[in-house]
Amino acid sequence: MTQTLRELIRERVEKLNNIPTVPAIIRPLLFYLERPVDQVEVQRIVDLVSCDESISAQCLRVANSALYFRSREVKSVHGAIVVLGVRQIREILLSCSLLNLLPKDKWVIDPLIFWEHSLGCGLVSRFCAKKANFKEPERAYLAGLLHDLGELVNMLGFQEEFNAAAQLAKSEQIPLHQAEQSALGFTHCDTGKILAEHWRLPEDISEVVEHHHNVQQAKLHPVLVALIGLSDRLCMANELGYGIQDSNHWQMEEDPAWTVLTRDYPALAKVQPAQFITEMQQYVVEARKLVRSILRA
Ligand SMILES: [Fe+2]
Ligand SMILES: [Fe+2]
Repeated sequence: MTQTLRELIRERVEKLNNIPTVPAIIRPLLFYLERPVDQVEVQRIVDLVSCDESISAQCLRVANSALYFRSREVKSVHGAIVVLGVRQIREILLSCSLLNLLPKDKWVIDPLIFWEHSLGCGLVSRFCAKKANFKEPERAYLAGLLHDLGELVNMLGFQEEFNAAAQLAKSEQIPLHQAEQSALGFTHCDTGKILAEHWRLPEDISEVVEHHHNVQQAKLHPVLVALIGLSDRLCMANELGYGIQDSNHWQMEEDPAWTVLTRDYPALAKVQPAQFITEMQQYVVEARKLVRSILRA
């Protein structure tokens, strides 16, 4: 990417700050995700959530959805936290606040498909992290959830060109990032990295956003990047992608991310791939249910 192009993207990203739908609670929530669950103050979360009416309402809808099988209706944010627990509520809140990020008329990809993929990637990344005995599975969840942030930047700042890239990916049956490179001259990895820097997201998340399609280039956090890279491909291969079929011949054991992970985490090398994929698929189903309950409630 040339310096001029980088400047152009940065300029458009800076403007995103003025868009009112960017939920103010994302930064404090990310800050909270840094902490161990037992150090999180429930009241602080309640206060944060109560600032945003639409997020409070969505949060209650999800808490009362079939996904969580509650016998009694949850009527307050505080009640939802008590019933569901801090970890689950953080997951719901973060997902809900991200879901409101982009104005309705800006979507090029169906938001349902985009969020199913992002949330699915978060859940599958956490599953893979646990299987590998990676020490921070919650980190993997967060990184998975955020990995395709750059696509939001592209829809917001480069809508026409991104639309052309999506069409090209569909007609040529090529991965979206390759189509972006042809149609825009850069990819969602480039724009995502600039947004991650602009939001001052942690360095490891930023590296995942930048290198999830090219995991060998990750220098600082290669394992986290490989975990998300692998989960991204697993989601795509299980039809939790953008409807672009680029995974026909994909084999997990041949993926560079699998090579990185099994080298650093021998526990993973002992896993039976078929069993691993079957277990993983329940998270794909869960992501579909959760996103539908948030967006369609
Ligand atoms: Fe991506
Ligand atoms: Fe992705």
